[in-house]
Amino acid sequence: MARILITSAIPYINGIKHLGNLVGSQLPADLYARYMRARGHEVMFLCATDEHGTPAELAAAKTGEPVAEYCARMHGVQAELARGFRLSFDHFGRSSSPQNHRLTQYFAGRLAENGYIEEVAEKQVYSNADKRFLPDRYIEGTCPNCGYDKARGDQCENCTKQLDPTDLIEPRSAISGSTDLEVRETKHLYLRQSLMKDDLAAWIDSKTDWPILTTSIARKWLNDGDGLQDRGITRDLDWGIPVKRGEEDWPGMEGKVFYVWFDAPIEYIAAAAEWAEAQGRPEADWRRWWRTDEGAADVRYVQFMGKDNVPFHTLSFPATIMGSRDPWKLVDYIKSFNYLNYDGGQFSTSQGRGVFMDQALAILPSDYWRWWLLSHAPESSDSEFTWENFQASVNKDLADVLGNFVSRVTKFCRAKFGEVVPEGGSPGDRETELTDELYIRLRAYQAHMEAIEIRKAAGELRAIWVAGNEYLQAAAPWTAIKTEPETAAMQIRFSLNLIRLYAVLSAPFIPDASAALLKALDSGDDWPDDLPAALNRLAPGHAFATPDILFRKIADEEREGWQAQFAGARR
Ligand code: MF3
Ligand code: ZN
Repeated sequence: MARILITSAIPYINGIKHLGNLVGSQLPADLYARYMRARGHEVMFLCATDEHGTPAELAAAKTGEPVAEYCARMHGVQAELARGFRLSFDHFGRSSSPQNHRLTQYFAGRLAENGYIEEVAEKQVYSNADKRFLPDRYIEGTCPNCGYDKARGDQCENCTKQLDPTDLIEPRSAISGSTDLEVRETKHLYLRQSLMKDDLAAWIDSKTDWPILTTSIARKWLNDGDGLQDRGITRDLDWGIPVKRGEEDWPGMEGKVFYVWFDAPIEYIAAAAEWAEAQGRPEADWRRWWRTDEGAADVRYVQFMGKDNVPFHTLSFPATIMGSRDPWKLVDYIKSFNYLNYDGGQFSTSQGRGVFMDQALAILPSDYWRWWLLSHAPESSDSEFTWENFQASVNKDLADVLGNFVSRVTKFCRAKFGEVVPEGGSPGDRETELTDELYIRLRAYQAHMEAIEIRKAAGELRAIWVAGNEYLQAAAPWTAIKTEPETAAMQIRFSLNLIRLYAVLSAPFIPDASAALLKALDSGDDWPDDLPAALNRLAPGHAFATPDILFRKIADEEREGWQAQFAGARR
């Protein structure tokens, strides 16, 4: 038994995530966590909301709530949706937790002690009316390029020109509208990650088994970008983790907070500490996942994220950990994803384009979405959601292949033998052949799941379902029963055991359907380590309940209705 630490990129607090976000981190991480638990490994699966930064402040300002209240409320919303999609986190934390405050301040202190922090004086816009420094996007004015009068200090939304706040004509505070602004000098902390360039490069080079998508992005940033420039890790915002050096105040840093990308990955660690507290467990229980000197040396740590997150996880966060010179666990494997597009364009949170997690669950149960999303995960390239493709996958894979197999077998059994596993004769060649095929496919399925090759795993699982259908079609117990009732009984017993096998193997993808089947069959979910034994698991005389329809088909009119409903922006 191994110990596996799994984290998914932590979603921003502002707003409900769309299906593209979901399939790029949380959902595949859940698939992997469920699979590893099913194989008997000890798993710690962590996620959280990413609550700091300007976007959180701006979103709160929009709803009129104090930012802390906004974050607490939205955390609840995201946690509920995560439950809806059956994301099986051991803990869903918050980057604003006291644990993350302490750890972030601790890391900053360690980095400073080790010479990785530089204090840099900068000129920045100060608002006398608001009594605070203004980040670039908190300054508005007229665009020098196109004359748009609501251009922001970082960019003009109208003509997309990149701006400096000092470029704006008649600049004003976006908070109060005040034009009483001045440029003042202020200090910020920089993380000297350029000093760690060689160590980071050597570390990336040692990861020969990582997906190309991950290493190519990391190398690009290391080599030809300015990705490893020293990076400002403090901001002039109210909301965030106050800048401290461990538990000490940091002279000159009063009123400043850490940059959201500095504290967010540290929340991976803090989430484990939150978990321990929530469970009433001692500190040692979470530290054994994170400190190699306290038990984490034999932990395998796997991260899941979209490709835009890769630089932060391959360079910045490792720089934080390495620079601490403490034995914190570094990531062992990074699974990254391309983008999922929506019907000929991009999913977009700001434009409300696409299907969002709450909307998806209002339409269909989570298994339908999980199956489509995972079996179309954007692994080797971007992939695209279309309603036609979704309808076709659901109707074919889930309803026609898996659902139909289950319902034919159980209904036939109920009609001819009652809701009890029949006895019948011994299995014949056809059953042996199928068992041999399943043996090979099961090995392939396991290998793909272990390698986190999600599409390939889904393809193999589908093939396993199809093999059962083809077997049933060829065996034709409905014909056999007329002349050889013993054979028909054996075929049905074998098929009921196939249903149980399918329930166990499919659980990481479609946990609800799987649980419903195992409940109907009144059976446990132990993994088929011994396949022939697993196919004899439901013994003659074992009672079962005929399950309800597992998956319903999506009708054309229904699909067209959704297409129309989701054609415009979300209101
Ligand atoms: N909130 C970021 C995003 O959605 C991800 C943060 S991941 C972490 O893109 F490393 F910072 F935790
Ligand atoms: Zn402009």
